[in-house]
Amino acid sequence: MVPFRWAITSAGKIAADFAHAVRQLEGHEVVAVAARSEAAAREFCARHARGAAAYGGYEAMFRCDRHGADACYVATRPDSHRALCERLIARRVPTLCEKPLATSVDDVAALYAAAAASRTFLMEGVWTRCFPATAKARELLRGGAIGDVVAVQAEFGYAIANGCPDGVRGSAATGGMGRDIGVYLAEKALLAFDSRDYDLADARGVAVLGRGDGVDLTVAASARMVGRDPKRRGGVASLLWTGQCDTPEVCAVLGTAGSLRFAATHHTPRTLEVTTRTSRTASRTEVLDFPEPGDDGAHRWNYPGSISLQYEAASVARAVRAGAVEAPEWTHADSLAAHRIVERVRDQCYAPTADVDAAKPGDF
Ligand SMILES: NC(=O)c1ccc[n+]([C@@H]2O[C@H](COP(=O)([O-])OP(=O)(O)OC[C@H]3O[C@@H](n4cnc5c(N)ncnc54)[C@H](OP(=O)(O)O)[C@@H]3O)[C@@H](O)[C@H]2O)c1
Repeated sequence: MVPFRWAITSAGKIAADFAHAVRQLEGHEVVAVAARSEAAAREFCARHARGAAAYGGYEAMFRCDRHGADACYVATRPDSHRALCERLIARRVPTLCEKPLATSVDDVAALYAAAAASRTFLMEGVWTRCFPATAKARELLRGGAIGDVVAVQAEFGYAIANGCPDGVRGSAATGGMGRDIGVYLAEKALLAFDSRDYDLADARGVAVLGRGDGVDLTVAASARMVGRDPKRRGGVASLLWTGQCDTPEVCAVLGTAGSLRFAATHHTPRTLEVTTRTSRTASRTEVLDFPEPGDDGAHRWNYPGSISLQYEAASVARAVRAGAVEAPEWTHADSLAAHRIVERVRDQCYAPTADVDAAKPGDF
């Protein structure tokens, strides 16, 4: 089969991981890379995407059609995503944009409206949705394996102080930790309460804010989801995200007939525990394992689990080749619903209270 050809926007860390994941994925190749400086693009190609054309400046690559890319992967800082995606959509280039797609619900909605109007594929890179373990969890939940879902609990965090790219994490310009990883927690709420069947009824949160810029660093959030069909009662989500410490990343979905648990690192899920209850004290647990794709070891990954970006690349190729404007794994509606949860929670965290005001002076 003709290979699926990728263009990459940025010579940053996740861009390098993506290039090596795609290099090891049969039927895919990177044909073009653009960075703000031509030297960075050339160096990136030499180290991570041999044979790809290097462009100095994103626009130079967008304007050029010699490389013949089938899709563009946008992996720049979040505050540049909207403008870059708009330019790609205007050229009708199928686009996979790293999360967060944009830094406000209005911007996210504007991008999906533009993509729909021009019939251009657009996906926010919530790669978790493309993992086989997530697909299995969705199938089990939809099939009623744990009964009616009542609640979901999940946390995700890492210490930004341990060395994260400047300005990408926990900064006000790029949307704080809510936009960075809150989206992964909202994804878990929408896994339990599928956005095809449930609406957000309410969301609240309390936060530890960064001193200095007041950005959300650690947030305990609650959301209530209601079924569109009155027969579905809905339930609650209890979500925690933080940029102050590393966390185990466990997620449990609780239902009337059992539970489903991602034992660790639920944003790159590899193990699923499915417990079915026969009484209050008796239950049976089945453990389902989904090993990572093979890795030739030639690249030192910047982020854990990045070889599995292959799943996302494959999803995009399937959808683009089918002429779709969205991927079924993470639809425009899913992404908008997730950003609505995060934004509603963040708005509350930033509401002026005596506690928030007291937290402002000094630096994090
Ligand atoms: N899926 C995941 O698991 C995952 C993991 C990590 C990050 N991400 C997401 O990927 C995106 C990039 O993160 P990263 O960790 O790869 O960050 P990074 O290494 O700092 O790369 C960010 C890139 O953004 C570009 N950029 C554009 N305008 C910029 C500006 N004003 N200041 C600084 N850089 C600017 C730079 O591209 P040039 O090279 O062109 O200069 C830089 O290389 C973020 O949206 C992040 O949330 C996703």
